[in-house]
Amino acid sequence: MKHPSDAPHSIYGVEKWGKGLIEVTEGGEIGLRNPLAPDAPAISLPGILHDLDQRGIKSPMILRISSYLESEIAHINESFRDAITRTGYKGSYRGVFPIKVNQQAQVVDRIVEFGKQYNYGLEAGSKPELVIALAHRLAREALIVCNGVKDAEFIQLAILSRKIGFNTVIVLESPKEADTVIEVYKELGIEPLLGVRVKLTNQISGKWEESSGDRSAFGMNTDQLVAAVDKLRDAGLLHCLKLQHSHLGSQVQDVNDVRRAVGEACRYYTELTREGVPLTHLDLGGGMGVDYTGEKKATENSINYTVEEYCANVVETVAYAMDEAEVSHPTLVTESGRAVVATSSMLVFNVLESTLYDAPNGPKAEPDDHHMVSDLAAVHGYLTRDRLQECWNDATFYRNELRALFRRGYVDLRQMARAERIYLSLMARIKALVASEQDETDVDDQLEKLADIYHCNFSLFQSLPDVWAIDQLHPIVPLQMLNQTPDRRAVLSDITCDSDGKIDRFILADGVSPSLPVHTLPEDEYYMGVFFVGAYQETLGDLHNLFGDTNVVTIDLRADGGFDLLHEQEGDTISEVMAYVEFDPSDCVAAFRKMVDEAISTGTLMAKDRKTLMSAYRDSINGYTYYE
Ligand SMILES: Cc1ncc(COP(=O)(O)O)c(C=O)c1O
Repeated sequence: MKHPSDAPHSIYGVEKWGKGLIEVTEGGEIGLRNPLAPDAPAISLPGILHDLDQRGIKSPMILRISSYLESEIAHINESFRDAITRTGYKGSYRGVFPIKVNQQAQVVDRIVEFGKQYNYGLEAGSKPELVIALAHRLAREALIVCNGVKDAEFIQLAILSRKIGFNTVIVLESPKEADTVIEVYKELGIEPLLGVRVKLTNQISGKWEESSGDRSAFGMNTDQLVAAVDKLRDAGLLHCLKLQHSHLGSQVQDVNDVRRAVGEACRYYTELTREGVPLTHLDLGGGMGVDYTGEKKATENSINYTVEEYCANVVETVAYAMDEAEVSHPTLVTESGRAVVATSSMLVFNVLESTLYDAPNGPKAEPDDHHMVSDLAAVHGYLTRDRLQECWNDATFYRNELRALFRRGYVDLRQMARAERIYLSLMARIKALVASEQDETDVDDQLEKLADIYHCNFSLFQSLPDVWAIDQLHPIVPLQMLNQTPDRRAVLSDITCDSDGKIDRFILADGVSPSLPVHTLPEDEYYMGVFFVGAYQETLGDLHNLFGDTNVVTIDLRADGGFDLLHEQEGDTISEVMAYVEFDPSDCVAAFRKMVDEAISTGTLMAKDRKTLMSAYRDSINGYTYYE
C-alpha cells in the first residue's frame, strides 16, 4: 500500500486517530499532548520510557495518563451541561462510572476524586463492586447505581448504606428481585431507593448487538415491568421507585441508534409516570463509543458522532418526549465506561527479535544442483518490474515442488536449504521492486503473506484480550524512528507459545492492513505502543501461559512539558501467578530441592552445583513473568 504524503510517518494515520492526544514529534517519536494544558509541547513517549527505565521500571507496562482520564470526565460532564443549557432542559446530569470497565484502584480513586466537582458517582454490577464503591467518599449528590443479579446480602448492604449518606439505587432486574427487596425492607425497616431496568426492543447495530433488544440478558419486558410495579405498590414501596434504567448497549456506532433507543426509553418513562410511579431519574446506561480508527464512521471500531453530539442527542430527545407527554424533565444518568477510560491507558512493549521471510543474498546456481533448484535460481535472470507476477508465480511453484520432492526423499537437506535461500533472495528483490512502485502492483496482496514476524514482549491474552476474542482494533505504532521510512512490514507475535497470540490487523492512514510498516530492528530497544486500552482490557485479561499483570505506571503530564510519576504498581511475579492457580511456591521449591539432592546422591550432579541450581529456581520464582 502506498501513501502519498511526504512524511514517512503519515502512513500510520496518527493525526486521524490520535485525538489531539497522541502525535509525532519533530524528532520522529510518539509524543503525548496534555489536553489540560493545550499550549504545552508534546512529551516524547520514548523519553518517558527512558526515564522510567532509569528508575528501574521496565516494559512491558501499562502507562496511564491521569490527565487524559480527567479530561474525558470533564469533557462528558461539561458536554451534558452545555447541551442542557442550550436546550433549556429543566433537569440535570449525574454520570456514574461502571466499575467493571476498569476496576483498578488507581483508576477508580482518581475518577471519584476528580469527579466530585461534577457529582460523579459509581455503578456497581456485583457485590464486590458495591463493596469497592462504598469505600469511596462520593459527593453528596452522587449516585451509586446497583445493577446485575442481586441476592439478599447485596440488597441489604445497598439499603443500609443509605444510613451513612450514600444515594444507593437498587435497580430491579426482575419481579423476583422486587420480592427480595420487599423481604429485606421488612427485616430492616429501612426504605430502599429503587430503580427498574427496562429492556428496550430497539437493537443497536455493531459488535454488541446481542446485548440490546428483546434477547438481551438483563432487564424486564413490559409484562415483567408491570408485575414488578404492582408488587411494589402492594408492599407500599412504589414511592421508593425513582429511577428507570435502560442500557443502550456498548460502543454504539451510529448516533441515530442513540436517538431511537432514547426515544423508546422515554416512552416507558412517561407510561410509568402515568401509572403513578414517581420517577425522577432516567438512566441510559453505557454505550458512548470510542473512535479507535479515527474514521468518524458508523463501523465496528469507529463512531459517527462526537461526545458533544451524543449529549445533545440525548438531551434533545428526552426534552422533546417529556414535553410532548407533559412529564417533568428527569435527571439524566449515563453509565459511560469505555468513553471515560479507554484513552487514558496505553500498552508499551519492546520487540525482542524478528523472523524474516526474505534474505539479501541467495547462493548462485551450481552444476550439480537439482534441475528445479537451477530453474528457481534462473528466475533472478528475468525478474523485472514488468514481470513481477510471473516471477512470483514461478518462484513459488519451484519452491513448492522442491518441498514436495524433499518430503518424498528425492531432494536432500542441503539442496532444500539452498532452494529456500534462493527463494528468500528472490522475495527480497520482489519486495524491493514493489516498494519502489508508486501504484499498487499485482503482488501487493501476496506479499502480505511474507510479512516479517516481530516477536514482542507482551501477552495478548493478558493485556489485549478483546483483540484476540472479538477482533477489537486499537491503534498500534512504533514509538521511534518515525522520521525514517519504514523499510519492512510485520505482524506482531506475543511472548506466549500460542499461535493465536499474534496481531495481524492494523489501523493505517488508508484503512485496515494485515501488516504493520516497521523499521529494521535497530541495536537499541525498538518500542511499540498500543493505544486506548483503558477500557475492559485490564479486567478481562487472563493468565494464559501464566504471564501475569504487567507493570502499571500512572503519570501526570506537566504544563512545562515534563511529567510526574504518580504511582507504580509492580507486575506479577512468577510466585504470585503460581498462587492464582493454586500452586504453593514453597512446595515447588521443596520438590525441586528434593530432585536436586537425589541427583547428587546418584552422582549425576556435583554437590558444588546445588547452590547454582537452587538460586536459579528461586530467582525465577521471585522474578517478573515477562522477558527481562
Ligand atoms: C449496565 C451497563 N452499564 C454500563 C456499561 C458500560 O458500557 P460502555 O463501556 O459501553 O459505556 C455496560 C457495559 O456493557 C453495562 O452493561
